[in-house]
Amino acid sequence: MIIKEEENGDILNKYLILVNRNHEFKNQNDYEIVKIKSEYANNLYLEKKTYEQFLKLKKLILSKGYEIEVESGYRSKKQQQILWNEILSKNGLKYTLKYVATPNFSEHQTGLAVDFCLKEDNKFLTGFQMSNKEVLHLVATNAHNFGFIIRYPKEKENITGYGYEPWHLRYVGTSVATYIYQKSITLEEYLKIL
Ligand code: DAL
Ligand code: ZN
Repeated sequence: MIIKEEENGDILNKYLILVNRNHEFKNQNDYEIVKIKSEYANNLYLEKKTYEQFLKLKKLILSKGYEIEVESGYRSKKQQQILWNEILSKNGLKYTLKYVATPNFSEHQTGLAVDFCLKEDNKFLTGFQMSNKEVLHLVATNAHNFGFIIRYPKEKENITGYGYEPWHLRYVGTSVATYIYQKSITLEEYLKIL
């Protein structure tokens, strides 16, 4: 499945790994994970290209008047477990199952997933705190130009297996992201078409 580095027009590229409720992450890819700079938190990591592309997206969004930042990037199996436990104790099982993957089933373990947050008045708004913000629309309509898809769109919960997460971006490369965006499909549907 992993064919080659993305070039313009490629429909298959090395970033098309599928990790979801039915596809476990088994460290099957050797993506280069780098330490990143984020005002939100220290010790955040992302796959190298994902980070470079996020910085470009961030710059564009900044030019439209909004400051987005990485809230969460690469997570180890252990970090995913800790997050799962935290959300479970805060929000209960139903919510946790809807929004948090169990360890080894999160695409955050690939380094290709970015949760962004919004810096506003020197405070960070994360997750649902960003609801009804123009910035979500700006990201949703521009992310594909940088190779990102909104991985868990509204009304696709039965396909992705997760609730709507407008903040969770997944790097797949520009040509694939643009196709997915234009057809309003999910990564699962795209991989089925191939
Ligand atoms: N929030 C997504 C589903 C994750 O935990 O990977
Ligand atoms: Zn996420």
